[in-house]
Amino acid sequence: MSTTASTKPRAPLTARALSKRFGARVALRELSFELAPGERVGIVGPNGAGKTTLLSILAGVLAPDHGDLIGSGRRAGWVPQQPSLYSKLSVAENLRLFARLERLAEPDAAVERMLEQTGLRDRANDEVGRLSGGNRQRVNIAIGLLAEPPVLLLDEPTAALDPSQRERLWEFISSLGDDGTTVVFSTHDVSEVERHAHRVMLLAEGELLFSGTPGELERAVADGSAPGAGRSADLESALLRFLKLHGH
Ligand SMILES: Nc1ncnc2c1ncn2[C@@H]1O[C@H](COP(=O)(O)OP(=O)(O)OP(=O)(O)O)[C@@H](O)[C@H]1O
Ligand SMILES: [Mg+2]
Repeated sequence: MSTTASTKPRAPLTARALSKRFGARVALRELSFELAPGERVGIVGPNGAGKTTLLSILAGVLAPDHGDLIGSGRRAGWVPQQPSLYSKLSVAENLRLFARLERLAEPDAAVERMLEQTGLRDRANDEVGRLSGGNRQRVNIAIGLLAEPPVLLLDEPTAALDPSQRERLWEFISSLGDDGTTVVFSTHDVSEVERHAHRVMLLAEGELLFSGTPGELERAVADGSAPGAGRSADLESALLRFLKLHGH
């Protein structure tokens, strides 16, 4: 898969030693990584690992306690798990509202562009509350993309979708990388990472345990010398073994 063709800045986001705690609970421990243009990164890890906390910090909606985020100066697009759509407004009205809230220079042009890009033109005048889960998720993503951000962050984007809607959404998300947009998503469905991410980042108890391709993770487990190491049949069992090898 190509990660190069890009009209957007290189290395759109670099994180250096990001840390966050909530009271006595450490949510993130000194996370460092770099995102490449057009790259799709899947964040996985057990409940409470820090995935949402990390995405919120990258999105700029939560401040880290320590560490730096070095970006292109443009904010990342954010698709939270519980988005704030107005169900009584139409698709186009929601997009227009968010385009104005974001103070885009040309809100109407941005709405038109997003209707086109997300394939929602036929639904432009439908009430959001009456859309299928998959189409509602497209509206959420359209809102995240309104300002043409270099990086799009999605927190468990397919969690509420049935298998065919998931598949359609992934086709759409995968097409975003074509213009150099970097996509970072979290999921509990490891097969989505295997099929749709160039890189997997494994978090556990706020620590970045692994960052690399799914194949590299499987090899790391297969080559491990600690008890429990050995060839894994798939990425999911490799992840579980990796967590076990690291005391989780
Ligand atoms: N606003 C908050 N106040 C207090 N603790 C929080 C807050 N947000 C997150 N935490 C804690 O920080 C840790 C990381 O939470 P986070 O939601 O980032 O995990 P996650 O990996 O997204 O989990 P899940 O898979 O369940 O979505 C957890 O221990 C959680 O309880
Ligand atoms: Mg979460």
